[in-house]
Amino acid sequence: MADYILEMKNIVKEFSGVRALDNVNFKIERGTIHGLCGENGAGKSTLMNVLSGLYGYGSYEGDIFYDEEKCTFKNLRDSEKKGIVIIHQELALSPYLSIKENIFLGNEQAKHGIIDWNLTEQKTTELLDKVGLKVNANLLASQIGVGQQQLVEIAKAFSKSVELLILDEPTAALNEEESENLLRLIKEFKNQGITSIIISHKLNEIVTVADRITILRDGRTIETIEKEEISEDRIIRGMVGRDLENRYPERHPNLGETYFEVKNWTVHHPIDGERIVNKQVNFSIRSGEIIGIAGLMGAGRTELAMSIFGHSYGKNIQGEVYKEGKKIDVRDVPTAIKNGLAYVSEDRKALGLNLLMDIRENTTLASLNKISQSGVIDSEKEVQVSEIYKSKMRTKMNSIYQNIGSLSGGNQQKVVLSKWLMTEPDILFLDEPTRGIDVGAKYEIYTIIEEMAAAGKCICIISSELPEIIGMCDRIYTMNEGRLTGEVLKKEATQEKLMTLMTMEKEGVR
Ligand SMILES: Nc1ncnc2c1ncn2[C@@H]1O[C@H](COP(=O)(O)OP(=O)(O)OP(=O)(O)O)[C@@H](O)[C@H]1O
Ligand SMILES: [Mg+2]
Repeated sequence: MADYILEMKNIVKEFSGVRALDNVNFKIERGTIHGLCGENGAGKSTLMNVLSGLYGYGSYEGDIFYDEEKCTFKNLRDSEKKGIVIIHQELALSPYLSIKENIFLGNEQAKHGIIDWNLTEQKTTELLDKVGLKVNANLLASQIGVGQQQLVEIAKAFSKSVELLILDEPTAALNEEESENLLRLIKEFKNQGITSIIISHKLNEIVTVADRITILRDGRTIETIEKEEISEDRIIRGMVGRDLENRYPERHPNLGETYFEVKNWTVHHPIDGERIVNKQVNFSIRSGEIIGIAGLMGAGRTELAMSIFGHSYGKNIQGEVYKEGKKIDVRDVPTAIKNGLAYVSEDRKALGLNLLMDIRENTTLASLNKISQSGVIDSEKEVQVSEIYKSKMRTKMNSIYQNIGSLSGGNQQKVVLSKWLMTEPDILFLDEPTRGIDVGAKYEIYTIIEEMAAAGKCICIISSELPEIIGMCDRIYTMNEGRLTGEVLKKEATQEKLMTLMTMEKEGVR
């Protein structure tokens, strides 16, 4: 008979009258890797938050049995005591603490009440080694990229004694190589008897690791798919309720002249001024064209886009930006926006959204001039445009007055996109635009991007997902160590070819 480590029965969870979970049943066999899939807002994170005690006993209906014992977790600490560790979808490291301090926060390595920093550092180094992260344990969390922060979170989980590991989109911020490394780790942990629950919108990954997959839709359990039956198409059918014919909209580009050009762009690191982050970068976008920038984590893609977008990254920036052959000023963000640029950040929590505001305010934040007169916001107009973007993006929410933090991860991303689309930019930089977005919504977002290009706009997509870059872009630049290493047309682009260029050493740099 199957040995279930966890059984959740008839779980109901409501948020001010809205049912996020509606009689969910969920069972996990000990020592397996269980996938949890569903569209944005289906209730995956909420279910895991109920399990881990973040939403404590009494705040939901139904029963949780762990090791056949009924659980009444009041908080995360209670579930951690039982060996249940959750790594949340939104990164939760303290930006001003070092990596080692973050890992042992609340679990200090102390002797006689005094923290043993040597031991802390030694243990941190071991943990970082385990997750394959080669950075100094004394760096601040804010000094490393989101992908590396994710690995620190995972290292932190391993610093506790884990029996059931919950990973809510652990690879969303990682590139392929790092994701593979992580999935390999999870499999290794399985061999050691650890049970894992993994939530991911990267279906190809789920397919390779999961022993069984449960599908949620609109807060209900739809089905559990057994190993033999697991495939991407099968999962999509369960999630969406029908087959999805294409992953990318068909593209018939209508390219104009070169519209946007960046010449000799060199950017220095904002703190370590000696370090060059982008060196002599030259690229151009024709009107109506979608270009991609492919590179590994740390290649300098985000730094390039952000420095062009109003010098919002970097120091001692040199180079010129041209629009329709005329040099334009991008000295600060307001000037860049005025000159038609927009940048959708990869880090929606830190840079993309104001978490204290509601959906309506977040949507209009970058275009207040469009909805105000003589400096006064026309609230009727504000509501109107927010509603338009809500239906255009099919953002799942109760109302536009809802706090942005109460939206599911993928739906928050849609609000970030709405905010920048509303500025009606001529040149739009999209940095990991579909991170954490479900397959169906991805297609909708691709369609919106495609429509913008069809309207003659210039689009630049930065993405770690090579299939997305190849699927969407007319032309692809590759980047390594802050420099462009190649340029490939869509019809010549293959993952292998891009990978070779993305890892090309300096000698090969043009
Ligand atoms: N704190 C909250 N207040 C109000 N509503 C909430 C809150 N947290 C979640 N919800 C709602 O509950 C539903 C389920 O959200 P949840 O975050 O669990 O989705 P998800 O499946 O994890 O989606 P995603 O793939 O986008 O992360 C959504 O409709 C969301 O808006
Ligand atoms: Mg979620």
